[in-house]
Amino acid sequence: MAAIELKQVVKTFGEIRAVDGLDLEVPAGICLGLLGPNGAGKSTTMKLLTAQAIADSGSLRVLGYELPERSKEARAEMGVVPQLDNLDIDVTVEDNLRIFSRLYRVKDIDAAVDRALDIARLQDRRKDAVDELSGGMRRRLLVARGLVHSPRLFLLDEPTVGLDPQIRTEVWDLIEELRSGGTTILMSTHYIEEAERLADEVAVMAKGKVIARGTPAELIAEYAGRDTAEVYAPPARRAEVRAAAEEAGLEVRAAGPAIAIVGAERASNGVVPDDAVLRPASLEDVFVLLTGEELE
Ligand SMILES: Nc1ncnc2c1ncn2[C@@H]1O[C@H](COP(=O)(O)OP(=O)(O)OP(=O)(O)O)[C@@H](O)[C@H]1O
Ligand SMILES: [Mg+2]
Repeated sequence: MAAIELKQVVKTFGEIRAVDGLDLEVPAGICLGLLGPNGAGKSTTMKLLTAQAIADSGSLRVLGYELPERSKEARAEMGVVPQLDNLDIDVTVEDNLRIFSRLYRVKDIDAAVDRALDIARLQDRRKDAVDELSGGMRRRLLVARGLVHSPRLFLLDEPTVGLDPQIRTEVWDLIEELRSGGTTILMSTHYIEEAERLADEVAVMAKGKVIARGTPAELIAEYAGRDTAEVYAPPARRAEVRAAAEEAGLEVRAAGPAIAIVGAERASNGVVPDDAVLRPASLEDVFVLLTGEELE
C-alpha cells in the first residue's frame, strides 16, 4: 500500500487553480521531494493531506485512510512540520514536546519527550525557554516535535526555507537520519540541493500538477542528458550562441551571467564554442527547463 495516493485532485481558491488535476503516489519508506517554483501548489497539497484544506474534487488516500472522511485517523499517524516556526515561546523546550505528546494521546509521555530530545540533540537544554535557543536548535525542536508520536508518515513543508547554510545542514542531517530509519517522508522544497541531497525520488510540480517524476539521475538522463556546456560571454554573443544551439535542436537556458546548453554531447561540431565550460548535467538544468524558472 502506498503511503499517499492522490488522483486527479483539484483545489481552487476563487479563480486560482492552486492544485489542478494532481496525481501523486508516494510509496512507503521513501523520501519524496516535491520540487516546484513559488505558487506551484506545494503548500496547498500539504494542507490537503492534513485536511487543513478540502479538495473540490479527486480522491485522496493517506496511510490507507480516505480523506477528508478519515482525516483524524490519518493525522494520528502523521507528523507535520510547518514552514513557519510555531513553537510556544512561553514554555520550556520540554513542555513544548509534552504538550504535543498529550495532543497526540501518546501513552508514555516521558519516554516520548526523552526520545524527541535525543532526536533534537537538546537533552541539556530541556529546561530552557524556547526563546533562549539558537535558530538551529529551534528548528531541530520543531522537527522533533512532529515526531513525538512516532508517525509513519512525515510531512515537511519547505523545512529549511530562509535558514542560513549551517542551520540548513543541521536540519538536513536530521531528515537524513529519519529517512535511513525508514520513515516515509514527503518534503516540499524549492531548493534543488535539498531535493538532490535528501530525496530518493523527486516530483517536479508546476501550476498545480506533477510534470515530471523520478530519481534525480533518471530526471537528469530523461530531460537534460549527459553534459551541459556553459558559455560566459557578453549578452550579444550569448544570444548568437543560443540561436545557433537552438537551431541545432538543443535546449538552452539562462544561467546568471552565462547560458547553459543542455545535452551538449548531442551537439554537432561547432555548435558548442571552444571556450564553453563542460560540466555534468544537473537537476537544476531539469528544473529550469521544465518550469521556465531561473533560480535565486
Ligand atoms: N488560502 C488561499 N486563498 C487564496 N489563494 C491561495 C490560498 N492558498 C494558496 N493560494 C494560491 O494558490 C496558489 C498555490 O499556492 P501554494 O501556497 O500552494 O504554492 P507553493 O507551491 O507552496 O508556493 P511557495 O513556494 O511560494 O510556498 C498560489 O497562486 C496562491 O496564491
Ligand atoms: Mg509553500
